[in-house]
Formats: sequence, C-alpha cells, structure tokens
Amino acid sequence: MEDQRKTEKIIEIENLFREFEDGTVAVDNVSFYVRKGEFITFLGPSGCGKTTTLRMIAGFDKPNGGRILLNGKDITDIPPNKRPINTVFQRYALFPHLNVFENIAFGLKLKKVKVTYEDKNKNTITKIEKLSKGEIAKKVEHALKMVDLEGFEKRSVSTLSGGQQQRVAIARAIVNEPKILLLDEPLGALDLKMRKDMQLELKKMHKKLGITFIYVTHDQEEALTMSDTIVVMKDGVIQQIGTPTDIYNEPKNSFVADFIGESNIFSGTIVGDKKVKFINHVFDCVDQFEKNEKVDVVVRPEDVVLLDEGKGQVDGKIVSSIFKGVHYEMVMMVGKTEIVIQDTVERKVGEKVSLDIKPDLIHIMEKEFSSNKYDGYITKKNTVCFGDGEFECDVTQLYPGSFVDEEGYLITAEGEKIDLTDVDVNVEVGLKDIEISDEQDVGGVSGNIVSMIYKGDHYQLIVRTDENEEDFVFDTEDTWNENDRVSVIIPKEKIKLSLKEEIKR
Ligand SMILES: Nc1ncnc2c1ncn2[C@@H]1O[C@H](COP(=O)(O)OP(=O)(O)OP(=O)(O)O)[C@@H](O)[C@H]1O
Ligand SMILES: [Mg+2]
Repeated sequence: MEDQRKTEKIIEIENLFREFEDGTVAVDNVSFYVRKGEFITFLGPSGCGKTTTLRMIAGFDKPNGGRILLNGKDITDIPPNKRPINTVFQRYALFPHLNVFENIAFGLKLKKVKVTYEDKNKNTITKIEKLSKGEIAKKVEHALKMVDLEGFEKRSVSTLSGGQQQRVAIARAIVNEPKILLLDEPLGALDLKMRKDMQLELKKMHKKLGITFIYVTHDQEEALTMSDTIVVMKDGVIQQIGTPTDIYNEPKNSFVADFIGESNIFSGTIVGDKKVKFINHVFDCVDQFEKNEKVDVVVRPEDVVLLDEGKGQVDGKIVSSIFKGVHYEMVMMVGKTEIVIQDTVERKVGEKVSLDIKPDLIHIMEKEFSSNKYDGYITKKNTVCFGDGEFECDVTQLYPGSFVDEEGYLITAEGEKIDLTDVDVNVEVGLKDIEISDEQDVGGVSGNIVSMIYKGDHYQLIVRTDENEEDFVFDTEDTWNENDRVSVIIPKEKIKLSLKEEIKR
C-alpha cells in the first residue's frame, strides 16, 4: 500500500513528538508524509492529538522532538508566516466589525510581494511592494467565486449563516494562495444538512484549486467521503494510514475497525491453516496466523449473509430488526453472542436463521492485548504498588513454598528470612481478572472509563488513572458508559508477580 503512494511528497513528518508542560503527551512519535495535491485527513476521537499535529505543521506550536520537512527542506524552526501554509481553524474567527470583503482582504493588505521590472537602462530591478487596491480586489473576487459567495463583498459577517461564515473563513485562507491548506474540523459547528453540502463543496474546491488539503475531523463518515488518504489516530499515536477503502476493508486493529463504520468484533482462536474459530464454529479465512493464536475477528454487518435455518454455517435467532431506509439492521443471537447484520431482505424477530460469511470477508487481526503488564514494587505491608495504585497481593508466589511471618518477613522454604520492602516486581493481570465498581475507594485505584469496545458477547473496557494515565484493560459483560468514574478491583490471587532481579542475599 505504501509503495503505491509514489507521487511527490510535499510534507514529510519524522518522529514528531509533543509533550506539554503539564506532562501531557499529545503527539507521540508520529511519522507520515503527504503527497502534493493530496486530500489527507486526520481522524480520531477527541483529544487524540489532531489539532496539535496540525498546529505544528502550521508552525503555531513547536515539537519537542522530530522534524517537519516541506519539499525536502526542514521547516521545523521556521515561523508560521514564512510557511506557504494557511489554516482554517476549529473555531473560526472572523472579524465581526469588518464586512466580507475586508475580512478576506485583511491578510492581503499586509502582504508584500517581490516585483521585478526593467528600468530604462535595461537593468533588472527587484522591489518589495504592497499589493495594489486593484490586485487585492481581483484576488478577493476570485476567492469569493471559489466558495460560491460572489456578490457578498459588502455584507456584514454577522448577518451571514453559519455555512456562509465558514465559507468566508475558507476564502480568507485560500486568498493567500497557500501551497497547503490546513482545515481543523472546519464544518464542526454546522448542522448535518449544511455539513453534507459543505463537504461536497470543499471536495470540489480541492479539485479546482489543485492544492494540498490536510483536514481534521472526528467524523468517520466525513473522512471516508472526502479523503484520498486517512490517518487514524488514537492517544497521539497513528493506528493506520491508508485509503478510505483500505481503512474500511482492512482495519489494522479492533480500534480502527470499531471507529470506522459498524463492525462485529469477536474473540477468536486460530485452529489450523487459515482456519479460525469464533462463535463456536470453525470458519475458513484468508489470513495466515500462528496456530492457537488468540485473535480479534472483525466482520462488517453487510458481509453476513442470512439463510434459512440449517442452510448456512451457524444457526441462530433474530432478536431485533430495524428498517434503516435502504436496508434492515438485524441482530441475530448465536448462543450468548450478538451479531449485527445488514440486509435488504427482512427477517422477522423470532425467526430461526443461519448465517454465512465468505472467507475473504473475515478480517483477522492480532489481539491488541492479552494481558496487562506493569512495573511495580512491594511495600512494607506486603502489598504491591503499580498502575498508580496499591493492591493486596500474595507475595509468597515469588518464592514457592514460602510464607509470611507475624513481623511481615517472608520465610522461604529453606527457612531464609527476606525483607521484600521496595523490591521491584513485574506485575501481570489478565483481561478477565479485573472488576470495577462505581463506589470509589473500594479498589486499589480510581480512574475513568476511556474506551468501551463491544466484542460480540462482552465489552472490552479501558480504565485510565488520573495521575500517570495508567491503563487497566479488561473484559466484562456489564454495560458501563464512557467517562464513568470507577474504582479498579483485582482479587489478590489474580495478581501475578515475578521478581525483576534475584534478590542478593
Ligand atoms: N496547551 C496545552 N497544554 C496541555 N495539554 C494540551 C494543550 N493542548 C492540547 N493539550 C492536550 O493534548 C491532547 C491532544 O489535544 P488536541 O487538541 O490535539 O486533540 P484533538 O485530537 O484535536 O481533539 P478534538 O477532537 O477534541 O479537537 C489532549 O489531551 C489535550 O488536552
Ligand atoms: Mg482539535
């Protein structure tokens, strides 16, 4: 996929890193490139680092590490006004006291251009001059034409609709004839209908102008319809780069699959050569994985075919059916697992059916997590500190046959007395071994639910702590809400410990 994108690179980003003064890492070692004339979109949930990345490309923010190249030249230290880049911001700011013409002309009036002419002695003379009134008027007119607002010059911006104001903001950016236009959620403030119209207009404008667009959105549909290339981000890290079709059809992990479009995500196991078992059935697939590997299996709702009972691969029962305009969205239960299916043919609730999935429509990806691993240390009370918290644990597992005496020393099978205070340990906790409670302080640490992905018969949740943003990833059948504040409970016997290094005795 990468080698197909051979056309000339206009922007290259190498290992970009941005940590704010408060320790927030907004962009974590990000590398990618943008081809000349491309429409590239940054897509990801709120707070994933999209705006920060864009601000660094524009020059409004400085990276703590990495480089930004423009046409092969390092521009990391060049101020924003010296870069051939213009930005349409997330919250657009027009000057309310100026009319449409003046808003767009504002930057041009400050602009100085190099003019070269020959004097009467045939000497070439170069002068720096301001643009003439006539030139400014011509440029503003052209920009207004681009955004379909001819004749709006004299209108006060406060009388314009949201969509029109947004178009003025875009005209103001393109009037400078930038080589690259950065657009940070430019349609975020508009209602759905207007957003759809503006999406088409922006796309048209991109074609007409022939310049490079770097676009930011958290709306997956917007990204899919508008972009040549999509960069999916999460927590400051790029998850996948590809064409809309790549990203939709071949998501690299369950985060991308869940974020882009609707998906069924199942936990599966590879049971043989191109054979994967999920929903208690062995399916043929096309991806090669190691035998016995635990995997995530992604199947799009439109890729599941419904047949009469007994005619397909797995039988089940329809438990819900909703008409969605063009297709029906139906939920089929196979045992305790829900499968979402889209089909133009309706199956009634209660109907017994069978499903069929073609091998190449079964997308298999490495499981992102098989267990949680932390660095920890033992305390004086024989508890263990890790993941921003303190948990009861069984320290005797570090020495088979040992026990803890009344004074809190560990006595080994050989009768040796060991003080474990401050000893560093590796801590491992399985995905099924974490519970949460909305009662604060009953667990070892508190945090917020930052992610919840449905996996067919259970949810995979991530609870993130406040202090050092430590993650606890686990499976649960209970429903919670994102941003719920919870405390993390891990039964003592589920905390697996191992020594970082042998204790010197
Ligand atoms: N000046 C700052 N100081 C400290 N933290 C910041 C600063 N600017 C951004 N952040 C943090 O960096 C992370 C990334 O922020 P950013 O604005 O890039 O996200 P985003 O992807 O644009 O989100 P949204 O979709 O909400 O606009 C967030 O956690 C944010 O709180
Ligand atoms: Mg943003």
